[in-house]
Amino acid sequence: MNKVRWGLLSTANINRRVIPAIRASAHGELVAVASRSLENAQQYAEKWNIPRAFGSYQELLDSGEVDAVYISLPNHLHAEWSIRALRAGVHVLCEKPFALSLNEVDRMVAASRESGRVLAEAFMYRHHPQTKIVGEWVRSGRLGEIILTRGVFNFKISRRDDVRLIPEYGGGCLWDVGVYPLSYSQYVFGGAPQAVFGRQWKGDTGVDEDFAGLLWYPGGGMAQIASSFRSPLHTHFEIIGTEGRLTLNRPFIGMDDGRRLVFHPAEGDEQEIPVPEKELYLGEIEDMHVAILDGVMPYLSLEETRNHVRTVLALYQSAASGRAIEV
Ligand SMILES: NC(=O)c1ccc[n+]([C@@H]2O[C@H](COP(=O)([O-])OP(=O)(O)OC[C@H]3O[C@@H](n4cnc5c(N)ncnc54)[C@H](OP(=O)(O)O)[C@@H]3O)[C@@H](O)[C@H]2O)c1
Repeated sequence: MNKVRWGLLSTANINRRVIPAIRASAHGELVAVASRSLENAQQYAEKWNIPRAFGSYQELLDSGEVDAVYISLPNHLHAEWSIRALRAGVHVLCEKPFALSLNEVDRMVAASRESGRVLAEAFMYRHHPQTKIVGEWVRSGRLGEIILTRGVFNFKISRRDDVRLIPEYGGGCLWDVGVYPLSYSQYVFGGAPQAVFGRQWKGDTGVDEDFAGLLWYPGGGMAQIASSFRSPLHTHFEIIGTEGRLTLNRPFIGMDDGRRLVFHPAEGDEQEIPVPEKELYLGEIEDMHVAILDGVMPYLSLEETRNHVRTVLALYQSAASGRAIEV
C-alpha cells in the first residue's frame, strides 16, 4: 500500500481547503464523501469530482473503500464519529476542537489503541514551516527565557444560525478559535499550563462570543489569549523573551498572503525571518500519510491534544466561577 484512500465525513465548508491538499499530496487520493442525505452527497461528489457518494457516514465507514477519514463535523460529533471510524478499521484526522470533554478524548484514544489505527487532531497551522521555525527559535534559546506569549483570533460571525452559536454543539469562540492561541502557547511552553483564569461575554444563544484568558506555565511563563465572534477578522501572535521577541501577523491562517514573521532583538534593528512557502493544509495530510504508511507517530501527539481540551475546560470553569483554576 503506498496510497491512502480518503473519505470525507460531511460536506462541511472547511472541506474546500482539505480536498486540494489531499490531491496535492504524493500519497493521498480522495475516493468518497458521506453526507446525512444521499442527494447532497451526490451533488457534492459531482461538484468536487469525488468518485463515491454515501447517504450516511456509517455506510462510508463500512464500505471498505476508504483507509482514512477527515472528520469535519460540528464539534459535538467529533468523538462519536472518530470512535465509529476507528472501530471500523479506518484512520482518523479529526478537526479541532478534538472533543468536548476529557472522557471523550480518553475514549477516542482507547479506540485508536484497540484498533491499531492512527488518530490525530487536525491543527493545520502546527505543520506549517513558519510554526516549525518559531519552535526552533524558542528552543534554540535565541529569545532568551520566554516570559509571555500573547495571541488573538477574532472574526465576526455572519449568521445567527451558525452551529458555532449552539451550546449543545460545542459552540463558543474559545472552542472555535481561542484554541489556536491556546495551542500555540502550549507549543511554545512545551506543555499544559498549571493554572488559568478566564473571562467571557455570552451572547443571546448562551455561548461565549468573547473570551479572554490568562495562563500560567510551570516554568514561570505566562500566556494571554483572546478570541471573539464579534470583531472583524484579526489574528496575531507574539512571543516575548528576555533577549527579544517574535511577532507573527498570520500565525494560524492566511500564511500565503502577506505573512510576516519578525524578530525584534533586545538591541538593534528588527529582522524579517524568511519562511518557505507551503500550502497550509498539506502538512497535516502528509503527516497522516507518514503515520499510516510508515508507522511513525503523528507529529501532534495525543497528549498535546488532551492538554488542549483540558486547558479549554479549565478556562470555562474559571469563567463560570470567577476564580483561577488549577489545570
Ligand atoms: N482547521 C480549520 O481551518 C477549520 C476551519 C473551519 C472549521 N474547522 C472545524 O471544522 C468543523 C466543521 O466546521 P465548518 O465550519 O466547516 O462546518 P459546517 O460548514 O457547518 O459543516 C458541518 C457539516 O457537518 C454535518 N452535520 C452533521 N450533523 C450536523 C448538525 N446537527 N448540524 C449541522 N451540520 C451537521 C453537515 O454535513 P452533511 O449535511 O453533509 O451531513 C455539515 O455540512 C468544526 O469542528 C470546526 O471547528 C476547522
